[in-house]
Amino acid sequence: MSISPKFLSGSQIRQTFLDFYAQRGHKILPSASLVPEDPTVLLTIAGMLQFKPIFLGQRTAESPRATTSQKCIRTNDIENVGRTARHHTFFEMLGNFSFGDYFKKQAIAWAWELSTEVFGLPASNLVVSVFREDDEAFAIWRDEIGIPGDRIQRMGEDDNFWQSGPTGPCGPCSEIYYDFHPERGDNIDLEDDSRFIEFYNLVFMQYNKDAEGNLTPLQNQNIDTGMGLERMAQILQKVPNNYETDLIFPIIQSAAEIAGIYYHNSDEKVKVSLKVIGDHIRAVVHMIADEIRASNVGRGYILRRLIRRVVRHGRLIGIQGEFTVRVAESAIALSEAAYPNVRLREAQIKAELAREEAQFLKTLERGEKLLEEIVDRTKQQTNQQISGQDAFTLYDTYGFPLELTQEIAEEQGISVDLDGFEAAMKEQQTRAKDARQTIDLTVQGSLDKLAETIQGTEFVGYAELSSLAEVEVILVDGKSVEEAAAGTEVQVVLNQTPFYAESGGQIGDKGYLNGSLQGENGEGLLVRVDDVKKESDFFVHFGFVERGTLRVGDSITAKIDNSGRRRIQANHTATHLLQSALRKIVDDSISQAGSLVSSERLRFDFNSPRAVTAEELQKIEDLVNSWIA
Ligand code: SER
Repeated sequence: MSISPKFLSGSQIRQTFLDFYAQRGHKILPSASLVPEDPTVLLTIAGMLQFKPIFLGQRTAESPRATTSQKCIRTNDIENVGRTARHHTFFEMLGNFSFGDYFKKQAIAWAWELSTEVFGLPASNLVVSVFREDDEAFAIWRDEIGIPGDRIQRMGEDDNFWQSGPTGPCGPCSEIYYDFHPERGDNIDLEDDSRFIEFYNLVFMQYNKDAEGNLTPLQNQNIDTGMGLERMAQILQKVPNNYETDLIFPIIQSAAEIAGIYYHNSDEKVKVSLKVIGDHIRAVVHMIADEIRASNVGRGYILRRLIRRVVRHGRLIGIQGEFTVRVAESAIALSEAAYPNVRLREAQIKAELAREEAQFLKTLERGEKLLEEIVDRTKQQTNQQISGQDAFTLYDTYGFPLELTQEIAEEQGISVDLDGFEAAMKEQQTRAKDARQTIDLTVQGSLDKLAETIQGTEFVGYAELSSLAEVEVILVDGKSVEEAAAGTEVQVVLNQTPFYAESGGQIGDKGYLNGSLQGENGEGLLVRVDDVKKESDFFVHFGFVERGTLRVGDSITAKIDNSGRRRIQANHTATHLLQSALRKIVDDSISQAGSLVSSERLRFDFNSPRAVTAEELQKIEDLVNSWIA
């Protein structure tokens, strides 16, 4: 009987994987949120993340074997999205996990059985890799599975030793690759992605790595695996890249339809834009469904960046007005069966997208005006060339793709200094690298310098929801500036404020800064405040200048969003009620381990000697509700 890849839809692949492992004693568990409990990463990057405490021996597993389909986001390769066949920000990872139960031999045998007998991949199309020093895994593949030695590649730490972050559980791994072109012969180079795709990673989790890089054996030998759902779909659906699988292509088609074009007739550049939209909109939909909101820090910043890239690529393919909500609709329809929360949160998803898109479109329009000025100025010059720095400002601040600037320049008979653009971009990347995930620290650094000249912020929010205040510091991209015009993201320090800053798991207030009558701006000024954080003695208001120009020394009225504050207070009180109920009903030794309180929800982490049963949950809910009533 000749084996050949079995055509399966994305949903069928997901279900087949979960069923295969369920039949082998694995408990099917739901995907964890994209917002991880684990503080070492901003977003859920792998299926193993929700099990980290189990691998580390901090929590006992509900079942010694588990299997999941986990939504993941990785943004380290964002520039490659759409350009290669398989890079994504959002993807689904199918995994089977053993917590001190089966190990290498069984994990390898099942992975092989699933790949060849269930998915029908011919052995002649498969190549595997093992960690250089892992003779045991090498021997299992060769002697028990029967793979010829020259199709088992030994690889180094970079490729075949897996860890979720700089510290934590880790171990050597073994990967299975699909060979699209076995006819190219035995000269195997697994880096050649025109020929090979890695689709299944088996991690033999057996060490804990500390900050100095020392490896200590974990109490158990565990298995953590990951199969890229989109990659398996590419293989089984015989399409040239992950984007053309049924998991993503309908989104691409809906964007193409809005633009009035056809994907298959489009040139490469347009295809890349469509793929970026297809990829990012999935990420954005799931991030908002998991309660992330666009902002200037952390995950909120990632969300904002992804939305802006979607809008930008939409313009590149000729879409004029707002379109992200319509494309999101198709992403929601595609994933609601597997992830019902995207439909439950549909309204929030659409509202957030519409708001961010409208705001960014305004920024783009301002960029267009600036570009006009630059073009006029350039035409007066002898070299007839837009400087790299100007092109970069348009790109970086106003979201203008270089291609667009070039096109417009060309129409006007002038050119763009591409080398200068590249240089400005490089410089920015170095800055961004340093600032990544530490925007707060950038603010802190700038404030340290200012601390000598100004006093800390006085908090007046216990008694007042609104107060007059003076603008002491304005930061843009972590740098102190004298003024910020409409359309700028700012961090503002006031001499006094009614805004609560984020602390102890309670998020900061939202609201507005308005020009007061005493201010030079009169009533025209409006700054939206999305979040407030405390940095040493300063309350930093993270926001966006909606209207007017904000200047250091301005007198303004700072006003918090009262309904938001009240909801936050109510959720804060609810954490206390929840803890009392847990103690009464489950165990009186229960203690708080952390919490998150926002206007929309609360999360309460606690230490408990045992799991809470379903009946107890119901009792807790009833008790808390009776107290509130
Ligand atoms: N944690 C491993 C990975 O992300 C296997 O799931 O590749």
